[in-house]
Amino acid sequence: MTFLLVLAVSGELIMDPWKYYDITHKRHHLCNPLNTEKFERLCQLLRLKRGERVLDIACGKGEFLIRLAELYGITGIGVDISPYCIRDCMEKHRRRVPDSDIEFVEMDGADYRPEVPSSFDAALCIGASWVYGGHRGTIQTLKGMVKNGGLIVVGEPFWLMEPSKEYLEVEEINRDDFGTHRNNVRVGENEGLSCLYTLVSDYDDWDHYETLQWWAVDEYVRAHPDDPDIRELVQRKTREKHIYLQGGRETMGWAIYVFRKE
Ligand SMILES: C[S@@+](CC[C@H](N)C(=O)[O-])C[C@H]1O[C@@H](n2cnc3c(N)ncnc32)[C@H](O)[C@@H]1O
Repeated sequence: MTFLLVLAVSGELIMDPWKYYDITHKRHHLCNPLNTEKFERLCQLLRLKRGERVLDIACGKGEFLIRLAELYGITGIGVDISPYCIRDCMEKHRRRVPDSDIEFVEMDGADYRPEVPSSFDAALCIGASWVYGGHRGTIQTLKGMVKNGGLIVVGEPFWLMEPSKEYLEVEEINRDDFGTHRNNVRVGENEGLSCLYTLVSDYDDWDHYETLQWWAVDEYVRAHPDDPDIRELVQRKTREKHIYLQGGRETMGWAIYVFRKE
């Protein structure tokens, strides 16, 4: 939750934001609150074919594309703005699927243009809808990149309950930055897509995603006591920890939405 919001909205980091993200997510394979069982279930359900082309915008550590390459022999492109993430993606590619035709590109996803419009069999954007100005913009953009009959998979927060004024202030977000779970489905359907499936994270999934960051920061501080960024790193993570524990956990949900372009 905190990554999704803080990097996207506040822009206050003095420390290199991608270094911050790299440290806080050091122990994560998936950089979103989807647990490994649900991730594997989703990959199995996609039933892609050998050679099909998949685009992953804001691909993080590339786990999605690499797993799809292992399962189905897909080809594809992963785009991420963080040099740390792209480094991890390339290393994972070499280690797990060295022969697969997957390219990882370091760039702002907003600037990515496919060589041929409507050419991908599936397009993903999990936990980075700010790249396209929100959930609707993400769906509209990905829709322009997949073939008819192709799949669009997005991961998006939603309100579990009406957010308090205090919560919105401390997170520096607006009520309308996110919708309800129902709205997230309807936005896609209003764009002419069929919603095929959703995967909703529970408290345990969120706790894993959030608290693994606390642990990663603790490890980093112990291993790098002389890093000049330590003070900001710890302050920032402590603040996020309190926001999560003081209402964030009950306020914000998270789901993956699978749509088909008809
Ligand atoms: C919440 S993480 C999700 C990563 C991955 N999709 C996953 O689920 O494991 C958000 C990702 O968005 C990337 N990101 C942030 N802004 C971006 C941008 N403008 N263009 C491309 N990637 C971006 C970050 O580097 C980070 O890897």
